[in-house]
Amino acid sequence: MSSILVTGGCGFIGSHTIVDLIQQGYHCISVDNYLKSDPTVLDQIHEITGVKVRNYAEDLTDETALDAIFKSNDIEGIVHFAALKAVGESVEKPLLYYKNNIGGMLSLMQAAVKHKVKHLLFSSSCTVYGDSKELPVTENAPIQKASSPYGYSKQVCERIIEDVIIGQEMNAAHLRYFNPAGAHESLLLGESPINPPLNLIPIITEVGVGKREKLVVFGQDYPTRDGTCIRDYIHVMDLADAHTKALKHLMQGNVKNGKVEVFNLGTGEGTTVLEAIKAYENVSGKKLPVETSERRSGDIPAIFADFKKAKSTLGWNPKRTITDIMDSAWRWEQKRSPH
Ligand code: UD1
Repeated sequence: MSSILVTGGCGFIGSHTIVDLIQQGYHCISVDNYLKSDPTVLDQIHEITGVKVRNYAEDLTDETALDAIFKSNDIEGIVHFAALKAVGESVEKPLLYYKNNIGGMLSLMQAAVKHKVKHLLFSSSCTVYGDSKELPVTENAPIQKASSPYGYSKQVCERIIEDVIIGQEMNAAHLRYFNPAGAHESLLLGESPINPPLNLIPIITEVGVGKREKLVVFGQDYPTRDGTCIRDYIHVMDLADAHTKALKHLMQGNVKNGKVEVFNLGTGEGTTVLEAIKAYENVSGKKLPVETSERRSGDIPAIFADFKKAKSTLGWNPKRTITDIMDSAWRWEQKRSPH
């Protein structure tokens, strides 16, 4: 039986995508070194789907270990999530980010070419557009100089894939996510509790359950409708659905061999920080302690997606709103917190 190799399969988006892939009939294996995840995720996937996914606890930069995984499985496609993603940490530790994100990509591509993998989905980010002039941003917007090693690693990985697959019997897609959040409806999966959250929505839910004292809003003087930054929050299960659809698209041969197609994955709805807080307060019925501070360095005022291409090409339509995202994120947080 041929398999789909999910790298970072125990991580946030990886685990939710495995669930969707299994439910759509794919056989998945995972490689995840548990650097930012933990093995209990596999039990949760088992509980939801009834399927035990095999995870190889290896580092992608270990070429020998990777080669052995490809030798012992018939891998038809790869969904590549495994990467570090904390923007601030990447500024402090650029070498770690380049070694992990770019080094991992290189050995993965090497194995993919050697073992004649046919399809590759890459987990990219809207960060490649920088502070886009064009809003909503389309896939044709120019790539701008990255403001962090994390952002640059995404740009470099996109380019590596584009260069390496030329002349190969492989097609690929870059999936550029906007701001992923939320949890699986079973509440068996969500954002990993072992990483201290740095993103707005898990921070909001932590303040909500009292794990943090207050929420600090970074800047209220942006040129937006209420002065706070606008982002496009996308539910992780809508993202998972997009991966399954993009993989099908590649498998059906809709993208020529040697080519890469790019898709924005967002809802098209911009939400300000204050609107996100309001959405939380509405679903939880609780008022959050909020304080305003200076702008956070590197933040852009506004970005949200034009996802028409994913809609028309993949038949993908994100179903969940910011309220649904907050509702699932809040319930996931509550489930893990002592009352
Ligand atoms: C960033 C990256 C994104 C990456 C994501 C994952 C950019 C443009 N985006 O998203 O590619 O996938 O991190 O880590 O590089 N905020 C507060 N208070 C807080 C936390 C956040 O006000 O305590 C605000 C931020 O200023 C921002 C918004 O909330 O305006 C969203 O922040 P965050 O969740 O960290 O995501 P991004 O920075 O948009």
